[in-house]
Amino acid sequence: MGASVKKEFFGEKQLSGEELSQKEISEKGEKAEKAAVEPMAVMERERVPQDKNSDNIVVIHTESLTKTYGDLTAVDHLNLEIRKGEVFGLLGPNGAGKTTTTLMLLGLTEPDEGKAMIQGLDCTRNALEVKKAVGYLPDNVGFYGTMTGRENLRFMGRINGLDGKELEERINSLLERVGMTQAADKKTSTYSRGMRQRLGIADVLMKDPDIIIMDEPTLGIDPEGIRELMWLIRDLAERDGRTILLSSHQLYQVQRVCDRMGIFVKGKMVACGTLEELGQQISRDGVGTVELSVYPDNVSLQRILKEIKGILDIEKNSDMYVIHSAFDIRRALSKKLTEEGYTIMHLRQAGSDLDEIYRKYFEKAGEKVG
Ligand SMILES: Nc1ncnc2c1ncn2[C@@H]1O[C@H](COP(=O)(O)OP(=O)(O)O)[C@@H](O)[C@H]1O
Ligand SMILES: [Mg+2]
Repeated sequence: MGASVKKEFFGEKQLSGEELSQKEISEKGEKAEKAAVEPMAVMERERVPQDKNSDNIVVIHTESLTKTYGDLTAVDHLNLEIRKGEVFGLLGPNGAGKTTTTLMLLGLTEPDEGKAMIQGLDCTRNALEVKKAVGYLPDNVGFYGTMTGRENLRFMGRINGLDGKELEERINSLLERVGMTQAADKKTSTYSRGMRQRLGIADVLMKDPDIIIMDEPTLGIDPEGIRELMWLIRDLAERDGRTILLSSHQLYQVQRVCDRMGIFVKGKMVACGTLEELGQQISRDGVGTVELSVYPDNVSLQRILKEIKGILDIEKNSDMYVIHSAFDIRRALSKKLTEEGYTIMHLRQAGSDLDEIYRKYFEKAGEKVG
């Protein structure tokens, strides 16, 4: 019912060209709209703080989930388990299959093989029930630009069957929660991307979902806006016990907010775990990786490097040596090189941040897949 009301409102007669373009009438956008306007779940539910036992409840689960577009396998036999209250990051470059995965979880795209389950419900067969439990923030969240943030929320609330004092109170509390109280009465066309994203979260929270799926939430947001958004995401998970699945190709921006991450490359999840676990997975059996650049970079250098105890192998990327070793060799390395009369231009232990880890996985998977 809600969907048809919204569809009518989107009719060409009611919306100007500008508003239409803002709405991104793409296939995905339209589907996203449908997902957003499903009737609300019970509104004022008491949220119980998470107890230890709830930590292990798997709420999102995929089994061999696969989607192909012609010859292309956009999502390739994905097995995923996300637990209650977790912030899970689906990370990978553009085209990795992140959006396709989220669309299958929302029942907006049908898998060719395997299945996706949310809270025990099959996302394809029970799409309607799944949508009630899941709040979806698409990568291009749209609002009616001529309406204020508050008016947009009011509109959404009404579609979802709320009205009067209850609706106004809910709007106020949600605006407060996402830090949009001050901008609430400005037209959304004047909002920055970060403000739109936060209003989008308020909009999603209208139906008080247990699970929130956000596609590329940090896209186009300035660092300060991203910090606020990350804080809000953690709060939604920690304080409310909601489960959050977010996708991003901007790893550095989301790595700290995620409890666990899945690294996606060409439709395949090549690694999954906490930041620490990913670091351990990438370093082969406790091997360390060091980046080194020295002057002069002459023929004797490789021979000298090989004499250092603990070095397993040496790769060369343009003017940089990437050295794998059985333990931390930085001290021995700098001592030896200095003794031999070299100047160290760059010496760094690699593999400690996600960009590094991710680059490794990407290279590794690229060899296998591409
Ligand atoms: N509707 C579609 N028709 C054909 N190919 C598609 C469609 N949607 C996505 N793809 C392709 O599937 C791959 C994965 O896309 P997507 O899931 O959007 O990746 P991501 O969100 O990680 O950037 C890409 O190669 C993309 O071009
Ligand atoms: Mg995407």
